[in-house]
Amino acid sequence: MILLNCALFVFGCLLSSTVAQKKFKSKHLPNYISPCRLSSDLSDCIVKHAVASIPHISKGDPEFGSPSLNPWVLEKLELNPSSQLKILFTNCEIYGLNRAILKDAKIDFDKKRVDIVVYVEQIKLESHYNMDGQILVLPIKGDGKTNLEFGDCTFNYSVDYDLITRKDGKQYAANIRPDISFKINKAHFNFENLFNGNKQLGDNINKVLNDNPQDAINELGPAFSNVINLAATTIIRAYLLVVPFDELFVH
Ligand SMILES: *[C@@H]1O[C@H](CO)[C@@H](O)[C@H](O)[C@H]1NC(C)=O
Repeated sequence: MILLNCALFVFGCLLSSTVAQKKFKSKHLPNYISPCRLSSDLSDCIVKHAVASIPHISKGDPEFGSPSLNPWVLEKLELNPSSQLKILFTNCEIYGLNRAILKDAKIDFDKKRVDIVVYVEQIKLESHYNMDGQILVLPIKGDGKTNLEFGDCTFNYSVDYDLITRKDGKQYAANIRPDISFKINKAHFNFENLFNGNKQLGDNINKVLNDNPQDAINELGPAFSNVINLAATTIIRAYLLVVPFDELFVH
């Protein structure tokens, strides 16, 4: 978790330094995202427009630098779910985010804050893993393939933002600060080749995890939800920071 937070932090810095070095390039809202009128019921409008936009957004858009989410591919993902456990995922593919459903959205223009509730029925992670440490007070160590599934997931994702006026005289969102909380109701774990391929020990650990999914979610969930935070923040940055604010919310 701490490592991932560092990763998020470094990621943020890398991103802002690229933005600072490269000349800022304003973009118009792409045609697959419809703006909302300030006079409308904004929550309702954002939720409705998300239904239409998410299938397009999740294909990825090189013009905006937004990644494909079907699957979302991460070459390397280092998680530190607790001080006792370290997991390195490589060639990691995350499936299911393209079927995310926006359940609720609130925007507070005074507080400069957006709160959204996202539901995902199933998220699957397929990856190589290397892990060492303890989980549910059991020692765990392995290196091999893994399939993880999380089901019936609700994420409360929020961002605080600043509004800045750029050289073109228009206002843009900037310095977004994300936060996430989650509820995951189902999980299934399969780590292959635990303990150098000792099948009995390996099967036993997978069974303990799968027989106690909520305990496993409590240990792994926060680190995992930060991965979802990273996905959401990557997408939001791609659009929110480069499109003038008055194109997102129109009079
Ligand atoms: C998400 O927010 C709703 C209210 O908008 C709240 O009822 C729910 O408990 C929150 N869930 C989590 C996982 O934080």
